[in-house]
Amino acid sequence: MKLLLPKDSIMQTSKFTFGVATSSFQIEGGADKRLPSIWDTFCSTENKIKDGSNGDIACDHFTHWHDDIEMIASLGVDAYRFSISWPRVIKQDGSLNQDGVNFYLQILNKLSEKNIKAFVTFYHWDLPQHIEDNGGWLNRETAYMFRDYVNLITQAFANKVYSYATINEPFCSAYLGYEIGLHAPGKVGKEYGKKAVHHLLLAHGLAMQVLQKNSPETLNGIVLNFTPCYPLTDKKEDVVAAQLADDHFNQWYIKPILDGEYPELLDKLPQEERPEIFENDLTIISQPIDYLGINYYSRAIYRSDDKEQFIQEVPLNVPLTDMGWEIYPEAFTELLVSLNEKYNLPPVYITENGAAMPDVITDGVVNDIDRVEYFQSHLYAVNNAIAQGVNICGYFAWSLMDNFEWAEGYLKRFGLVHVDYETQKRTIKTSGSAYRDLINQRHIKSE
Ligand code: FCB
Repeated sequence: MKLLLPKDSIMQTSKFTFGVATSSFQIEGGADKRLPSIWDTFCSTENKIKDGSNGDIACDHFTHWHDDIEMIASLGVDAYRFSISWPRVIKQDGSLNQDGVNFYLQILNKLSEKNIKAFVTFYHWDLPQHIEDNGGWLNRETAYMFRDYVNLITQAFANKVYSYATINEPFCSAYLGYEIGLHAPGKVGKEYGKKAVHHLLLAHGLAMQVLQKNSPETLNGIVLNFTPCYPLTDKKEDVVAAQLADDHFNQWYIKPILDGEYPELLDKLPQEERPEIFENDLTIISQPIDYLGINYYSRAIYRSDDKEQFIQEVPLNVPLTDMGWEIYPEAFTELLVSLNEKYNLPPVYITENGAAMPDVITDGVVNDIDRVEYFQSHLYAVNNAIAQGVNICGYFAWSLMDNFEWAEGYLKRFGLVHVDYETQKRTIKTSGSAYRDLINQRHIKSE
């Protein structure tokens, strides 16, 4: 089963970056060698994680990092996107934890030896628990602590990184973590969500200032996730409902960064849901970025609930992944094209795209044709957007290997590589080989 490169596409040239992605809490383990994070606490709270698991060992990348990078290199990718565990590299007093820093330095050195570009994310949700104890992202102070963390790490990593992302998916941290409580720290309340967003975005802006000073030569930006919102019918109420959902879940995150303002919806929010915005905040948040990372998995469908609000519809009779997410690549193209119309976009990298599938391993083989098909249709979708003028420079498959899928624990597998959690054996799936061959095809073409 092959993955094909779109014809006459920049994807066929070495100008386009192909990569794989992971994040610290999802793969590392080595929990006893760092401070606790909000995800450790969340995992130890009853009924939060479907299989009752945690990130203490995960893929034990903490031990297997060397072989894992060999494996990444064997896939022939240009780049590896991973995140730094804040509680591993910064001590409670705010100083550097040199052992933690060394863990990442050896990874960065190995990547450079293998000629693989390091795309480093500073925050993929594992907030140190002691910062949460002080209010976490509801406390403005956390944004400044994040800035200080970024300041120390950029100095320690000097010249070893190709690209930095400040924050991964502020939507998930704020909405899932502080408004509906599906993710750590598990807070629930409409009055929390938008406040957490504001501090996450402020943290991004403050970190961008540090990055442009300490590390102007790297590509510096942020990673946002988008779930395009479609109306159930073309009735006016449903269209309005879908637009409202889009403002809450998508535009709320990109507009302040690129336009320096929140959607107009801000003025309509009840007072208690509004963030406290200081005078210069939006100027800080809208610092120029070198690139925008976009994560896409699926779309969502909404209808009006007759109270000028929106209700999400469960998709019926449509193809779904193992997460129950609709497979709808057309929305990926439409998303990219519409963002390009609405905003003055910097260069775009697709920093995550992929699918959980009900994999089975038989005689050491995972023949995940369904995942290959997902990748194929979504690569074409990206190419269609490029053909319509969107400046997309790279694509990262989520994920390099099966890992801890947050509230789903280890029940959902997103990897190009299968992980046996008992033995920590890695097995490249059919999708992994297909991705490798796709990248190799391109190298042959570009010579
Ligand atoms: C994204 C996360 C990533 C992974 C995928 C499936 O929202 O950034 O860590 O869990 O979803």
